[in-house]
Amino acid sequence: MTIVPAIGRLTTRQIGERAQAMIDALSVISADEDALTRLYLTPEHRHAAEMVSGWMEAAGLSARMDAAGTVRGAMPPAATGRNSNKVLLIGSHIDTVIDAGRFDGNLGVIVGILAVEQLRARGIALPFGLEVLAFGDEEGVRFPVTLTSSAVAAGVFDTKALDVADEKGVTLREALIAFGGDPERLRQEAYQRPAVLGYLEVHIEQGPVLERAGEPLGVVTAIASQSRHRIRIRGEAGHAGTVPMEMRHDALMAAAEIMLMVEAIARKGKKHALVATVGHVEVMPGASNVIPADVRFSLDVRAATDEARKAAVEEITLFARKIDKRRHVVVGVETMMEKGVATCAPRLTKAIAAGVGAVQGKPARSLMSGAGHDGQSMVQLGDFGMIFVRCRAGISHNPNEWVSIDDMGVAVEALVATIEELGRQERAGR
Ligand code: GLV
Ligand code: MN
Ligand code: MN
Repeated sequence: MTIVPAIGRLTTRQIGERAQAMIDALSVISADEDALTRLYLTPEHRHAAEMVSGWMEAAGLSARMDAAGTVRGAMPPAATGRNSNKVLLIGSHIDTVIDAGRFDGNLGVIVGILAVEQLRARGIALPFGLEVLAFGDEEGVRFPVTLTSSAVAAGVFDTKALDVADEKGVTLREALIAFGGDPERLRQEAYQRPAVLGYLEVHIEQGPVLERAGEPLGVVTAIASQSRHRIRIRGEAGHAGTVPMEMRHDALMAAAEIMLMVEAIARKGKKHALVATVGHVEVMPGASNVIPADVRFSLDVRAATDEARKAAVEEITLFARKIDKRRHVVVGVETMMEKGVATCAPRLTKAIAAGVGAVQGKPARSLMSGAGHDGQSMVQLGDFGMIFVRCRAGISHNPNEWVSIDDMGVAVEALVATIEELGRQERAGR
C-alpha cells in the first residue's frame, strides 16, 4: 500500500486515521488466509518489511534492511548540539504470533514513522539523529530463540543460536540466508554504545490497566524477568489395549503431572506477579491407540523479580526430576532464553511522563510490562524507555486485539512530545 506523505501539520484524529490505514495494510500480509500469522524470516515478513521500508522512505528516512532482517530508517540531525553525533532509536516489531492481533508490535513501528513525519511537517529540528527500527523476531514463535533481530542491533546476539531449527528443520542460519540476510555480518550490525542516545518504543499495553483507569497512555517502568525452556520426556511406546496401567512408561501422563505443577507453582507465587505458561506440546507418535513415547513442551516463566522467576524454574525442574523416577521416564529440561528484569532509564521515563502528561492532560500512570519486548535486548545497549497504549479489554495475542483511532493519534503526539523534550534536554545540556 502506498501511503502518500503527510503534507503539513495534521490533527490528532487525522494522524490516528493514517495509523489505522497502515495497520490495515500490514494486517493482510499473512501466511494464513483467514488469520494474521507473520513469522520471522518468512516471505510474509519480507513483504511487510518492504512495505514498511517504503513508508520510511516516504516519511523522509533513508531505509535499509540489516543483516538480521531489521528495517532501519535513518534521519540525520537537523541541528547541532553536544550529542549531534548520536542517534535516538525508535522501534518495535513486525512479526506476529499465530492468529495474532493487528497492533502488537506493528503499531510501534507505525507510530515511529508517523512521529518522524510530524516532526518534519512541524519543522522541529533535532540536535541528534533518529532511526526507526522494524524488528522481525520479538515473538520468537518460529525458532526456539527470541529477540534475534534486536539482540543483533544491541550487539548481544549469541551466534550459537544460528544452529537452532524451526519445526521443519530449517536452521536460523539457513532462514537468514534465504531471506536475504547475512549470518556472517551480524556482529558488524551492532550499534556502538557511545553513538546511541537511547531507545524508545511505543507498544500496546496488552493488559487492562489503562482501560480501567480511563487513560490512553502510560509510562513503562520495567519489563518482567522472563525465561523460556523446552521440556522433553522420553517414555516407551506400547499397545493401548494390552499394556497394564502399572507397567506403562507413559510420557504424556508424566507431562500432564508436570504441567499441573507448573500451574500450582505459578499460582502460589502471585505476589511476585509470577506467571507460567505451557503453550506448545508435541506428542509422539501421536496415535489414539499407542502409549505416548516422547513428549516435548514449551515452558515460559515470568516474574516481577529475577529471584522469584529463578526459584519457580528450580521448583518446576526439581518436580520434573522426581517424576522421572516415579514414572520411569527420562525428563530433560533445557533453557532456551533467559532475560533479567529490564529497567527503563529514569532520564527517558521522565521525558516520556512529560510528553504523555502534556498530551493526555493528566499525569502519566506508571506500569510494569509483563509482556516481553525488544527493549529486553536494547537495554544492554543503553537507556531505554517505553510508552504503553490502551487496548480494548487488555486483549492481545488474539485477533480481537483493538486500539482506537484516537488513541493511536494520541500515541504519535506523545512520542513527538517526548522526542521534543529530549531535544530540549540536549540543548540545555542536561
Ligand atoms: C511477546 O509478546 C512475549 O511477551 O512473549
Ligand atoms: Mn510485542
Ligand atoms: Mn506479542
